Amino acid sequence: MKITTANLTTYLKKLNSIRSFDSILNETFTSSAVSSYYKKIGYVYRRYHSPEGAMHLPIKLTDTERHTYKLLFQARAVEELIRTHNYKTIVELGCGSGFNSIYLAEIFPDVQFTAMDITDANLEVGKQRAETKGLKNLSFQKFNFNEDVHAYRADVIFGIETFCYASDLKSLFKNLSASLNPNGRIVLFDGYEKSPSEYGVLNPDEQLAYRLACWGFALDKFQEVQEVYDAVKTNDITLEFEKDYSNAVLPSYTVFQKASLRLLKFPWLTKLLLALKIIPYELYMQVPSGIFGAYFLERKFFGYYQFIVKK
Ligand SMILES: C[S@@+](CC[C@H](N)C(=O)[O-])C[C@H]1O[C@@H](n2cnc3c(N)ncnc32)[C@H](O)[C@@H]1O
Repeated sequence: MKITTANLTTYLKKLNSIRSFDSILNETFTSSAVSSYYKKIGYVYRRYHSPEGAMHLPIKLTDTERHTYKLLFQARAVEELIRTHNYKTIVELGCGSGFNSIYLAEIFPDVQFTAMDITDANLEVGKQRAETKGLKNLSFQKFNFNEDVHAYRADVIFGIETFCYASDLKSLFKNLSASLNPNGRIVLFDGYEKSPSEYGVLNPDEQLAYRLACWGFALDKFQEVQEVYDAVKTNDITLEFEKDYSNAVLPSYTVFQKASLRLLKFPWLTKLLLALKIIPYELYMQVPSGIFGAYFLERKFFGYYQFIVKK
């Protein structure tokens, strides 16, 4: 069943019957709440999305690509930069379980990688994987990019679906650009709200659906694309490359939507399984994101972008 503006209210009612929006909409996402969410959801990602530990969207450009190959799209973009510029020191922020850095560290044994994240549990998974693979050029470090001082130097700093958690993108970019070596680059892949001129105005039900979709990712809201432009401009760095991959992530959002809708078939049963903790709360949080994510992508309210910023 496709989600449309006409049937959005029906799905909102079902969701509200499972878990009242009053409690959901009062939740706030501090850094420790985000970390606790990722600690619990890490297992769900490994079980249902990527046994290798990827916690981001696959990018699909052709019909023949396999899931893991699509998940490596973002890391391959960094790989290309490392080859082109002969980079030697790479930092990944918000590395999760290290899926991207492990792939890169295996390819480039002479390049030094540091993978950082706020969530200990997932760093531990990454560390163990890297040890099993005998990687000597990759280290993991606990780091909160909203609070900790950036005391590293790097040729590339990249973040895949993590800078959406930046509380202040301008000051984060200031820190990152100060940490970059000359000719260094920052690479971002993330979801953003598009420019209002592309979608017009959201009605009240859409606003609620959007708020819930963000809640599912432990976010109050996604940043607007304009915030990236402003963060670049303020810091006197250059936006070298920008690409909208919304259409390439839509197929996986559609799969995500179908899986999420299954939990709305019998709302009373989902409510019971949640109460019995047979369905983990963090897994249920992803249901509205799954249901409404594709809707907002198709509506062109939300988009998935890559940015490369040059010092
Ligand atoms: C969607 S996951 C992406 C993980 C990884 N980049 C990947 O592609 O598999 C977002 C990650 O950002 C991390 N994160 C969120 N806020 C952070 C912060 N303030 N500092 C460092 N990491 C953070 C989370 O712990 C989580 O691992």
